[in-house]
Amino acid sequence: HVNFEDSNRPRTPKASAYFYSMFDLPVPSKLPNLPASEVPSTAKVVWQKFSSQTDFDRDTFFYGTFPKDFSWGVSSSAYQIEGGWDADGKGPSIWDNFTHIPGNIKNNDTGDIACDSYNKMEEDIYLLRALGVKNYCFSLSWSRIFPSGRNNSINSHGVDYYNRLIDGLVANNIMPIVTLYHWDLPQALQDIGGWENSTLIDLFDSFADFCFQTFGDRVKFWITLNEPQVIAWVGYGLGTFPPNINDPGSAPYRVAHILLKAHARVYHTYDDKYRASQGGVITLCPNIEWVEPKTPSDPRDIEAADRHLQFLVGWFTHPIFKNGDYPEVMKWQVGNRSELQNLPSSRLPVFTAEEREYIRGTADVFCFNTYTSKIHRAVAWGLRRLLNWIKEEYENPPIYIIENGVGIKTTSDVDDNTRIFYYKTYIDEALKAYSLDNVNLRGYNAWSLMDDFEWLNGYDPRFGLHQVDFDNPNRPRTPKRSAVYYAEIIRNNGIPMPKEDEFLYGEFPKNFWWTDKSKCCVTPQRLTGLSIWDQFSHTPLKISNGDNGDVACDSYHKIEEDVEMLKSLKVSSYRFSISWSRVLPDGTTRYVNEMGLNYYERLIDALLAANIIPQVTLYHWDLPQALQNVGGWENDTIVQRFKEYAELLFQRLGDKVKFWITVNEPYNVAYAAPYVVAHNLIKAHAEAWHLYNDTYRAKQGGLISITINSDWAEPRNPHNQEDISAARRYLEVQGHVVTALPAFEGFMLFSVFYCRLPEFTESEKQRIKGTYDYFGLNHYTTVLTYNLNYPAVTDRSWLNSGSFWLKVTPFGFRKLLRWIKEEYDNPPIYVTENGVSERGASDFNDTWRIHYYRSYINEALKAIVLDAVDLRGYTAWTLMDNFEWAVGFDEKFGFYHVNFTDPDLPRRPKASARYYTQIINCNGFPDAAAGLHPCLELESEGKRYSRNCAFLV
Ligand SMILES: *[C@@H]1O[C@H](CO)[C@@H](O)[C@H](O)[C@H]1NC(C)=O
Ligand SMILES: *[C@@H]1O[C@H](CO)[C@@H](O)[C@H](O)[C@H]1NC(C)=O
Ligand SMILES: *[C@@H]1O[C@H](CO)[C@@H](O)[C@H](O)[C@H]1NC(C)=O
Ligand SMILES: *[C@@H]1O[C@H](CO)[C@@H](O)[C@H](O)[C@H]1NC(C)=O
Ligand SMILES: *[C@@H]1O[C@H](CO)[C@@H](O)[C@H](O)[C@H]1NC(C)=O
Repeated sequence: HVNFEDSNRPRTPKASAYFYSMFDLPVPSKLPNLPASEVPSTAKVVWQKFSSQTDFDRDTFFYGTFPKDFSWGVSSSAYQIEGGWDADGKGPSIWDNFTHIPGNIKNNDTGDIACDSYNKMEEDIYLLRALGVKNYCFSLSWSRIFPSGRNNSINSHGVDYYNRLIDGLVANNIMPIVTLYHWDLPQALQDIGGWENSTLIDLFDSFADFCFQTFGDRVKFWITLNEPQVIAWVGYGLGTFPPNINDPGSAPYRVAHILLKAHARVYHTYDDKYRASQGGVITLCPNIEWVEPKTPSDPRDIEAADRHLQFLVGWFTHPIFKNGDYPEVMKWQVGNRSELQNLPSSRLPVFTAEEREYIRGTADVFCFNTYTSKIHRAVAWGLRRLLNWIKEEYENPPIYIIENGVGIKTTSDVDDNTRIFYYKTYIDEALKAYSLDNVNLRGYNAWSLMDDFEWLNGYDPRFGLHQVDFDNPNRPRTPKRSAVYYAEIIRNNGIPMPKEDEFLYGEFPKNFWWTDKSKCCVTPQRLTGLSIWDQFSHTPLKISNGDNGDVACDSYHKIEEDVEMLKSLKVSSYRFSISWSRVLPDGTTRYVNEMGLNYYERLIDALLAANIIPQVTLYHWDLPQALQNVGGWENDTIVQRFKEYAELLFQRLGDKVKFWITVNEPYNVAYAAPYVVAHNLIKAHAEAWHLYNDTYRAKQGGLISITINSDWAEPRNPHNQEDISAARRYLEVQGHVVTALPAFEGFMLFSVFYCRLPEFTESEKQRIKGTYDYFGLNHYTTVLTYNLNYPAVTDRSWLNSGSFWLKVTPFGFRKLLRWIKEEYDNPPIYVTENGVSERGASDFNDTWRIHYYRSYINEALKAIVLDAVDLRGYTAWTLMDNFEWAVGFDEKFGFYHVNFTDPDLPRRPKASARYYTQIINCNGFPDAAAGLHPCLELESEGKRYSRNCAFLV
């Protein structure tokens, strides 16, 4: 009760409020009389707040749950599922007549039988129970209850049907949300002009009155009109829906005018006659798509977006939720155009003052349906913005999302991955709006309970959580994977953080190696072939030309400054690779370039002087051009060349270098190449390893191994055996070199089209087996597999990076480490690369990179502490942003930003550099709650580095 005599408008609950609190409904209160919206409305703050979000802020997955009384449900509508189009005395609706004319609907489909829900109520209730929903939103077929549309034609069979459905729901603790009108007007009422005839206001009211009286003891949530804009616009403007009137200039406005009055009338009937005894809520349900301005920084684009929403949504919600009248911008614009057309009055009808007062406030809660956002396709983040817009525009009303879902064009889609991603990301955005933005969101309904008749599209596409076999007269229902997923969300009341993703405080073992890695001024060139690389090959001869615009680094000054950076990061080791052609310009030992070799000696000395252990890679893809000219890795003689190159390095640098990596990521070198390439890479590695083992290990005492690149692979459907096999195959193919090496007996013989290994001879096998001292691992990301022969997909909810192939998936890191432990008999593991890229303009406050390192390194800690993985060291990729070689190659992985437009090439640490230093200082993540650890106090000043960079002469 509201005391309108009192200027404070105090509210006192009536008995009815307690009655329906058993359905967890909000207590309705008369909506405030809000002033008309301006354009852009006050809701423009939503664009101002969100449109400048970084992708990281926008796309970071949010874990959390909804309040205890959150109403989870699914929705359907009468014509789309019931069938029984003329059963037991039902009258025809405009959709019956429309679909019966061949050519109107795709495949000449009709809703005559649809899902046959008219005869399968028990099964539908069973599906709802299995989902665990708290509500079910369905619509009443007006002509099933009143065959002629009027209350002198009551059809008791129709009334019985709905009584049984409602009883069944209530008996199972499922709250019915009932829509009075979901587009299927009795044909008899269309025959007198349909919604263009204002008699419909009375007739709709008398139908609603009957429903309140008949079902209102059990139904506490009513929706008058579903998507009134569609009724007015698609039925009377575009004319593609019945009654197929194509009069876009004026009929939709006239029809909407009548719809608004009809809605208000029904609301008042409920308010006056039933609310006190029945105590439910009543509203209408528009459809809303979020609109993102083309250029969010341009106020005119914001205004255009806001105007669009006022026209699309405000058309119905502004009168009801604001001041009883259409949005000012709509009145102005339609009026203005009508004047230009020399019409005597505006095409937008005018409400009298009395009508405005009658319409204003005729909704207890805010319901809406939403599917996509304008501009983009399914963009989940539009939902969060839309919810914020409603909050700002209508002063934070209680909100229910009544329809949200995705149609997929396929008949056998029980394994409906796309729909799972859709719900996962949309519900997550709803969760953000509720938890982070305090949007008063009370319920969420998925569209739809099951595949159904989708209007002009017939039975394609499919929106259901359950598949319906429309070819089978029994219309059997089968739960899709999305139904299982949605049931899980309902059970969890949201998406709580999985236990294994919870942060682990703790430290790494005392002697853990923290490494940084770079290849000075060399781009990583992932997934590109040798031919591209060769064009940019870093041979001394090329560099000495000095006129190609490529920037090389003056090694004499660079060493000191780079070592300074490393010291400041506090790393214990540093991984870099040796350029084969810098040391051996034609790839052979015929001529040794002492200057090149000397450069590496000085670098190593400087590192050792700073107490930083050098980790040296012999081959990181930069094959001397001279060797490529005689066939590169396809020529068997390269095995001997590589061995000679390795020997030179062992001889000259081996007293100081105790950690060697023969080949970096052989998989990427051999990817899509003739299989002989993989063959020779493995043999070259094995020969270098034996050389070291036989001749140098005794006196030098170092470690030597190979490093592989591996993603983690998850089966796309964890219950599907084919997907599980595909995941295993994916891991094995990437790890095939290692599979061929260690204690693993025998060889994997692959016949996968993109990676074939030749058979090794028995003596080759003996030569290769066991040629490893540790397991070197480069790891960045995770994929979802589903087919033995096809590339994998990713989960749409995973955070992107600056590289299309790199999704932020920390959980996969721990799983991969555990898999290597199990698969290769617990080898010592060194992570030799791990990091994340950004694209475009640099941001020194690189929070997304901090997030990446924090979560990935934490997973590494879990692997050691919880899974007893023998992880010995961790290398971050990379020290500084690399020079961009290829056009458009704009992926920066560095802790340090390098300003390439400044000839001094100044380096400046990003926030992540200091964060990484803190992790190293702390040797992990001490729990600050257990007392402030000194290592957590970051050094305040960020040191700046700059240096001269000239061409090597
Ligand atoms: C609609 O369909 C009914 C029954 O199928 C038919 O009797 C009636 O004439 C039709 N009305 C129109 C306007 O086509
Ligand atoms: C629909 O019916 C019309 C008229 O009978 C026919 O010409 C057309 O081929 C049908 N379309 C399909 C897809 O069956
Ligand atoms: C509107 O409906 C009434 C019957 O309720 C009818 O008498 C009248 O002719 C209809 N008007 C139009 C324009 O069809
Ligand atoms: C392989 O390399 C050797 C030199 O190492 C060269 O003589 C021979 O022609 C090359 N073979 C092919 C097929 O290019
Ligand atoms: C490595 O060298 C040691 C010592 O010479 C030898 O015992 C061992 O068999 C060698 N390992 C392999 C795989 O050849």
